[in-house]
Order: sequence, then structure tokens, then C-alpha cells
Amino acid sequence: MNYKTLAIIGAGGHARSVYSWLEQSNISYLELFFVDKNKKKNDEEIFNHTIIQKEWINLHGIKTEACLLAIGDNNLRKQLYEHLLHHNKVIIGIFHNSVILGIGSKVHNSTLIGPLSIVGPLVVLNENIIVNSGVIIEHETVIGPHSHIAPGAKIAGRVTIGESVFIGIGAVVKENIVIGDNVIVGAGAVVTKNIPSNSIVAGVPAKIIRKLDSK
Ligand SMILES: CC(C)(COP(=O)(O)OP(=O)(O)OC[C@H]1O[C@@H](n2cnc3c(N)ncnc32)[C@H](O)[C@@H]1OP(=O)(O)O)[C@@H](O)C(=O)NCCC(=O)NCCS
Repeated sequence: MNYKTLAIIGAGGHARSVYSWLEQSNISYLELFFVDKNKKKNDEEIFNHTIIQKEWINLHGIKTEACLLAIGDNNLRKQLYEHLLHHNKVIIGIFHNSVILGIGSKVHNSTLIGPLSIVGPLVVLNENIIVNSGVIIEHETVIGPHSHIAPGAKIAGRVTIGESVFIGIGAVVKENIVIGDNVIVGAGAVVTKNIPSNSIVAGVPAKIIRKLDSK
């Protein structure tokens, strides 16, 4: 895919990763810029690309052929995704060149998959998901929109993950588990039981440490 202009939405740490993934994907562009609501004085460029300052509420005013959402926070990324779609903006995803995608898997075209991740057969990845670096998602797992699977997490087969779920770095989810919406799984957790919506779990085996307000 070749774009005239590409806007990376977000200029934080995750945006630097997304830029790197982009450079190692089959997407090319003539012009690229970052957009963030904060523009730090001593950080006005990222990898020699301009950062444009824009309040999120005015994000739809950017002039670009396509946008890439590079915001790790699920709730903010969901809000911006819906805002941009409402204003008929084109939102694209990325497949890093090293990704292995199993037969029969369906990946929404706004979803990002980072380096060395493996997505097994018949997996469904809905819209606006981040599959970070070195993730394994096994056969027939289904992941809901606006979720983020952090680096090195391993999701076994036939797992169902809801909307706006964050799976922490290095976490493991056993086969056939069902995780509700708006769940945070802590770094390194091992999920052995279903998790209800609006919960934070952590530890080995993972236990609920706190409840979240429903979204
Ligand atoms: C689980 C998590 C969300 C909890 O955050 P929090 O609500 O701010 O919780 P706190 O840091 O106040 O910790 C609460 C308790 O849980 C424990 N805890 C926190 N994270 C834990 C984890 N991952 N595993 C085991 N215990 C954990 C803390 O030690 C603390 O225990 P204590 O009460 O006995 O002192 C967070 O620690 C975490 O793991 N986030 C994921 C980070 C990550 O994956 N980043 C990758 C970015 S790409």
C-alpha cells in the first residue's frame, strides 16, 4: 500500500514503536507526520517527522489520506477511533513483515500486529486492536475491539477476549478461557479461570485485585 500522506496519531513511546513497525511493513508513504494533543518543546520531531499539536476534539481537522492510531490506552484509542470514523477518516493497521498469520484468520484492517508475533489459524482480531511485539495468539481465539495484547503475552487456543481488554506484558491465558469487557490482566499473570467484565487481575494464578467502573 502506498499513501501520499500518513498521520500517526499519538507521539508517545508506543508511537515510536508503531513508526518502527510501519518502516518494516509493506506500507509506504510520501509524507508522514505525528499528531498529539501535547507537543513538547524539546521533542518537536520524531525520527525527523513533525509533530502537529491538536486537541483530540479537533482531531478530525487533520488533512491526511490515512491515519494510524498509536495510542496504547484502550479507552482513549477507542474514543479517537470512533471520532475519526464518524468524520469519515481512513484508519489503517499494520502487519509487521515478520508476523506469521495462520490459515483462515481474520484481522480487521485497522488492527496493528508488531514484530515476531504469531497468530494461529482461525483467529479473529476485531477493529482497533494492538497485538504488540512477540505475542502468540493460538487457534480459534477471538479478540474484541479496542483491546491491547502487550509484548510477549501468550493466549492459548479457543480463548474469547472481550472489548477494551489489556493483557499485560508476558501474561499467559489458558485455553478456552473467557475474558469479559474492560479487563486488565497484570504483567506476568497466568489466567486459569474466566474473568468477569470490569476487573483487574494479577498474579499466578491470576486473581481479581480490583474492580473497575463499567464503561
Ligand atoms: C496489574 C496492574 C494493572 C495493577 O496496577 P495498580 O492497580 O496500579 O496496582 P498497584 O501497583 O497499586 O498494586 C496493587 C497490588 O498488586 C500487586 N501487583 C501489581 N501488579 C502486579 C502484577 N503484575 N503481578 C502480581 N502482583 C501485582 C502489587 O505488588 C500490589 O500488592 P500489595 O498491595 O501487596 O503491595 C499493573 O501493576 C500491571 O501489571 N500493569 C501491566 C503493565 C504492562 O503490562 N505494561 C506493558 C505496557 S506495553
